[in-house]
Amino acid sequence: MSKPLVVVTGKNGQLGWELLQLTLHNPKGFDFFFAGREELDLSNPASIVPFFAKHKPSYFVNCAAYTAVDKAETEQEAAYTVNAESVGLIAKQCSLINCTLITISTDYVFDGMGTEPYKTDTPTNPINYYGYTKWLGEKLALENNKKTIVIRTSWVYSEHGNNFVKTMLRLMKERPELKVVNDQIGSPTYAADLAEAILTMIESLEKSEGSFGVYHFSNTGVISWFEFATAIRNMAKLNSCSVLPQPSSAYPTPAKRPGYSVMDCTNIQTDFGVELKPWEKSLAVCLSRLAL
Ligand SMILES: NC(=O)c1ccc[n+]([C@@H]2O[C@H](COP(=O)([O-])OP(=O)(O)OC[C@H]3O[C@@H](n4cnc5c(N)ncnc54)[C@H](OP(=O)(O)O)[C@@H]3O)[C@@H](O)[C@H]2O)c1
Repeated sequence: MSKPLVVVTGKNGQLGWELLQLTLHNPKGFDFFFAGREELDLSNPASIVPFFAKHKPSYFVNCAAYTAVDKAETEQEAAYTVNAESVGLIAKQCSLINCTLITISTDYVFDGMGTEPYKTDTPTNPINYYGYTKWLGEKLALENNKKTIVIRTSWVYSEHGNNFVKTMLRLMKERPELKVVNDQIGSPTYAADLAEAILTMIESLEKSEGSFGVYHFSNTGVISWFEFATAIRNMAKLNSCSVLPQPSSAYPTPAKRPGYSVMDCTNIQTDFGVELKPWEKSLAVCLSRLAL
């Protein structure tokens, strides 16, 4: 008997790569097809129908996205096509073949002015253009396929790709001092943990457990980027570099960043039994893998 096919986009990105690593040795009763830009280019919406005609997945996990947050302010059309229009079209194709769509979104759908963790039904108000395209992608995904799960995540890092952890490690080896913002508060997410959560959700859905809609996922704990950088320095024993707190006003960026981006991740635990790990533990795992 053939196994259900799980298609994953963004295979060369942080999350897609972690899903690939996780499923290489432990496919858990599914077949997987990992797509990069070459196999499915989301900047070309016309490529979506032929892709579905060829692959016919039971689960479509969309980890691909236009993620250049600052560039999105000026490259609006490119961000819109990849993050919104194409996601809506993918959802439409999913609905035609009874496929579950899991698409990843962001804490940037909120305005960053909150003072307590955002719930999945807290009103959205995207903080920048990237956030707006991701918000629209959520809406189109949910409207066009009733079997859609949106997972909002934040501060994603991994041993693969470009991210804050790897940038800090590189700069801390090069410089005697680093200034890092201390007035933006959130929760880091180790992409390997999110990849594991996605697999857990797919396994539950296959057993007709869990439900569709919006979920939040991050590691547990609430910190500033300054605290995160300090922990990276201490765990990696790069003590020759001093980490100094700075206000965001010292680092103007084209796209606005949220002051507060903590999300309430209760639903994903109760509905799917997904385990949330403390950020310190996951950071230690990532650093140990980077050191291998
Ligand atoms: N990184 C974060 O801090 C963060 C925070 C919140 C939410 N998220 C969301 O989490 C998800 C995963 O993010 P990530 O950190 O894994 O992102 P990432 O490392 O930037 O990877 C994004 C992937 O999307 C692919 N992609 C971009 N444009 C494409 C296109 N036109 N067609 C096909 N593929 C395309 C990229 O391909 P190439 O490798 O060829 O460029 C890359 O592999 C995304 O939905 C993102 O919006 C991320």
